[in-house]
Amino acid sequence: MVFEFQERTIEQITADIEIVFVIDKNLDHKWVKDKETLQKLGFEGKEGESLLIPETKRLYLGVKDLHHESIRIAASSAIKALKNRKYQTAKIGTYIENCPITNIKAVVEGAILGGYGFNRFKKEKPKEYLTKIIVGYEDYSDIDFSPQNAVKSMKEAQIVAEATNYVRDLVNLPPNVITPQTLAEHALKLAEENSLECTVLDEKELEKENMNAFLAVGRASANPPRLIHLKYRPQNPKAKVAFVGKGLTYDSGGLSLKPSDYMVTMKADKSGACAVLGIIKAASEMELPVEIDAVIGAAENMVGPDSYKPDDILKAKNGKTIEVRNTDAEGRLVLADTLCYVQEKIKPDYIVDLATLTGACVVALGEYTIGVMGHDRQLQDKILKAAEASGELAAKLPFNRYLPKLLESKVADICNISSSRYGGAITAALFLSEFIEKEYKNRWVHLDIAGPAYVEKEWGYNPYGASGAGVRLGIKWLQKEYVFNKKHP
Ligand code: BES
Ligand code: ZN
Ligand code: ZN
Repeated sequence: MVFEFQERTIEQITADIEIVFVIDKNLDHKWVKDKETLQKLGFEGKEGESLLIPETKRLYLGVKDLHHESIRIAASSAIKALKNRKYQTAKIGTYIENCPITNIKAVVEGAILGGYGFNRFKKEKPKEYLTKIIVGYEDYSDIDFSPQNAVKSMKEAQIVAEATNYVRDLVNLPPNVITPQTLAEHALKLAEENSLECTVLDEKELEKENMNAFLAVGRASANPPRLIHLKYRPQNPKAKVAFVGKGLTYDSGGLSLKPSDYMVTMKADKSGACAVLGIIKAASEMELPVEIDAVIGAAENMVGPDSYKPDDILKAKNGKTIEVRNTDAEGRLVLADTLCYVQEKIKPDYIVDLATLTGACVVALGEYTIGVMGHDRQLQDKILKAAEASGELAAKLPFNRYLPKLLESKVADICNISSSRYGGAITAALFLSEFIEKEYKNRWVHLDIAGPAYVEKEWGYNPYGASGAGVRLGIKWLQKEYVFNKKHP
């Protein structure tokens, strides 16, 4: 899809169809040129309502307000309404609220994210007619903005949304296609396309690095584990940030086997890994002034003669011993070693890990919200603000002094599950915290994306299946931290 900005009013632009948002049921706005027809047909402009008038070549959509998320959802609905219709070009004005560029970006993001479909395994693929969307230089509220900024922000929005769709595609790929090795091959391909450095450690190299917790998780699989490390190096970076992703290409639960109903969708247990690939993809294409390391612990948690077992005691890379009481709490074992690797080898300024770590996080926050955990309040608040600005949902889950005790083991330094059935998302994060060195405690944040990464129904501009959770949040945080000036929202 091509997005074009034209320094002309909507009327001056030629296109097959015009997209008109009816904001807060306001049918009196000058852009609503078919008021009588709309009223005759009973269109009120309620949120989510849409009406296509072929005679006047206009598509109307009811939108609640000018909030950027409402605009994203509306743009997504517009693309869905135009699917299977033979319009090749569409035009739309701008719907600005506070920040001139936020809503221009939201239109592009909503259109790209809402237009996504995963049809690789279908014989009959939906036909796509729409190839171009033209944004005009005319605003709903008569707010002035710079065309240069509009063009630049539309490009950025396209990069981020396409990176999100790249992540969705990878996560949606089934576990008979994506294994730790083929995931590494996707990373190598991305590295080649985006001029990134890429190193892949195989099981022998993981052994040399004493990553025994990670290795134990992958041991029963016919598809051996891989540590995947991508690096984006701009000139004169302002900082170095590591994004660490849980890459379980399948999580059967291992010997603590998941019940059948819970096992389905566990191809999505690689969502954190795919998200960090999406973040480094977008960051490199946007040429952000930050060195970025994307590090993935990729393994398959399976059952076999060589399975790791409840009762095993594992020694992690940092020398800590772990009593295994549940082989389904495997993500934290892979991440423990991967986090140690990142601190020892990369020494970044910040570490952000993304993982579909716990069902408990989904219980706590619902399916749509990312759980944010860590020791540093300010860092977490910045992540929450970035989430809000990006259109992703995130909420903090607080550590406290009592919860760490639930991870105590009688026979090893720590246990891989909590002794309580409550607060599981936080105790999982506290387990990870045991593998974060003192000097990194306030420079680390953990994002549990178990809820939004993969949802088996459409929501907003997200499709059935993978959503690409974490990419937009991650990029927005980097921009707020290292690109925008203080005035920018
Ligand atoms: N990958 C799962 C967590 C998960 C659950 C992700 C649902 C997405 C949707 C993780 O490895 C897991 O199995 N966690 C266990 C931990 C428990 C054994 C302490 C869980 O959440 O039940
Ligand atoms: Zn598990
Ligand atoms: Zn898992």
